[in-house]
Amino acid sequence: MTTTKKRVLSGMRPTGKLHLGHLHGVLDNWKKLQEEYECFFFVADWHALTTNYEKPGDINYNINEMLLDWLSVGIDPEKATIFVQSDIKQHAELHLLLSMITPVSWLERNPTYKEQQQNIEGKDLSTFGFLGYPVLQCADIIIYKANLVPVGVDQLPHVELTREITRRFNYLYGDTFPVPESMLTETPKLPGLDGRKMSKSYGNSIFISDTPEEIRKKMSTMVTDTMRPKKEDPGDPENRCVAFNLHKLYIKKERLNEIVEDCKSAKLGCVKCKKELGDALCNFLSPIQEKRKELENPEKLAEILNKGRGKALIVAEKTLKEVRNGIGLRNIA
Ligand code: TRP
Repeated sequence: MTTTKKRVLSGMRPTGKLHLGHLHGVLDNWKKLQEEYECFFFVADWHALTTNYEKPGDINYNINEMLLDWLSVGIDPEKATIFVQSDIKQHAELHLLLSMITPVSWLERNPTYKEQQQNIEGKDLSTFGFLGYPVLQCADIIIYKANLVPVGVDQLPHVELTREITRRFNYLYGDTFPVPESMLTETPKLPGLDGRKMSKSYGNSIFISDTPEEIRKKMSTMVTDTMRPKKEDPGDPENRCVAFNLHKLYIKKERLNEIVEDCKSAKLGCVKCKKELGDALCNFLSPIQEKRKELENPEKLAEILNKGRGKALIVAEKTLKEVRNGIGLRNIA
C-alpha cells in the first residue's frame, strides 16, 4: 500500500519548559496533524545557537524538558517522527549547499532579521549564522520534502524565503523538492497572568509542568476585569475579564454559563472565581503531569529520540544523495 499522505514538518527551538500558550497555540494543533498527515516534529537546537551562542545554557536540559512536554500532552512517537536537528548532520550539509545559491540581499530584507537585531538588546546578532537563520530553516523543511509547514504568523517570512530558495534550487539543478506551503492555524487567544500575551520573557506564564501549588498561587495574581474593583460591581467577563480566556478552555459549558450570569449580577467575586479556575486547570493538567513523571526517565527519552533519529536519517540521507547528484558532487555517505 502506498501512502498518499502529505508530509508535515515543524520545529521549535529548545526553550525549556513550555507554557499553556505553547500547548493551545502549537501542540494541540500538532496533535491533530499527527492523525492526518505524515509528521516530522523536531527540536531546532542549532537554531537556538543563532541568538544564544555566547551563553548557550544547558541545551540538553532544555531539549529534554521541552520533549517531556511534547510527549506528555500527546505528541506520539508512534505517529510522528520526533527528533533533534543536530542528530541529523545532513541538515548542516544541505544548509551549506543552499547557502551557495542564496543571495545575501534576500536574507538582509528578511523582516525578522532587522527586527530582532534591533529588539534583542545585549546580544551581537551581526553574525553569519544569524543572517543565515532562514537558510537553515529551509534545509530543515525541504530535506524531508515537506509539503506543509505549520507555523505562527511570525514565521511566515521564513517559509516564504524557503519557497524562494527551493524554487531556485529546482531551477538550477533540476526538480528535486516540492515547494512547501505554510499552514496558518487559528489559535485561541491566550493571555498571560498580566493580560499581555503569554511569554516566558514576560514572566507571566503558567507552565504545563507547574505544580498545583504554583498554579493556584499564580492564578490568584491573574488580572480579571479591571473595571470591577469590588465584588459588588457587576462584571463583563466576555468583554473585559482577562482570566475568562482561560475559563473558556478549562470550565465546562454549563458551569461557564452560570459563572457569566453570577459575574454579571455581581454574585460571584473574582477571588472565588479564580480559585475555581485554578482547580479546573489543575484537574486538566493532572493526567498530563502524571504522564510526564512516567517519561522522566533519561533512558526512555533517549530511546524515543534514537528511534526518531533513525527514521529521519533515512529520509534525510536519501534526499542528500539526490542533491549531491543533482549538483554533480561526489556522493559518498
Ligand atoms: N524558526 C522556528 C521558530 O523559531 C523554529 C524552526 C526551525 C522551524 N526550523 C523550522 C519551524 C522548520 C518550522 C519549520 O519557531
